Amino acid sequence: MSDDSADHWDAVFASRDLDAVSWFEETPAHSVELLRQQPGSVIDIGAGASRLPDALLADGREDITVLDISQEALAVTRERLGSAEGRVAYVVSDVLAWEPARTYDAWHDRAVLHFLTEPAHQAAYVDLAARALSPGGLLVVATFGPDGPTSCSGLPTSRHSADDLAALFAPTFTLTRAEMRMHRTPGGAEQQFTWVTARRTN
Ligand SMILES: C[S@@+](CC[C@H](N)C(=O)[O-])C[C@H]1O[C@@H](n2cnc3c(N)ncnc32)[C@H](O)[C@@H]1O
Repeated sequence: MSDDSADHWDAVFASRDLDAVSWFEETPAHSVELLRQQPGSVIDIGAGASRLPDALLADGREDITVLDISQEALAVTRERLGSAEGRVAYVVSDVLAWEPARTYDAWHDRAVLHFLTEPAHQAAYVDLAARALSPGGLLVVATFGPDGPTSCSGLPTSRHSADDLAALFAPTFTLTRAEMRMHRTPGGAEQQFTWVTARRTN
């Protein structure tokens, strides 16, 4: 799926007004707050052109990696970061094809896991998170909730309750927090998200 998917997302990031895409948020305050539970390194999975690296740098975080299937997305981030660009590491890869060369203290994913609609792909994602996270490391995942959209950016999406996510990530991860939150898109629509944090306990 990688080549088609990379082309799809490159086209999105090259052609769309990125402040108007449905997943845009001006300030990723909730992500920053949840990540404060875990000092150390952070990898943002499917980071897109999110402002999370900017916010984490401002929060005093030093070891930040952003991964995305779209090189166009990461180019937007590099340009926006300007002189701070070199303080962030960039990985262009399909998350499921990625072989992590190191471990991280925290894994963040906002609005990416729900593009994995096949159970085998979801299981591969969990295996990868287990390999990429340090023992005891923190997982922060936000996906469409049970009443969330069934598609995004022209692609089908899966929807997850907190119980679904607890079962998906067990037994390697133990949920420590779960909440439903509404995201208001720039167009004014509401999207239900399930947010969970979990610890790698195995
Ligand atoms: C809805 S956007 C969310 C972007 C960002 N997390 C945010 O909160 O603004 C989904 C992102 O996931 C990336 N993506 C989709 N499938 C991916 C995959 N298999 N591997 C890595 N990145 C992927 C897309 O390129 C896009 O940047």
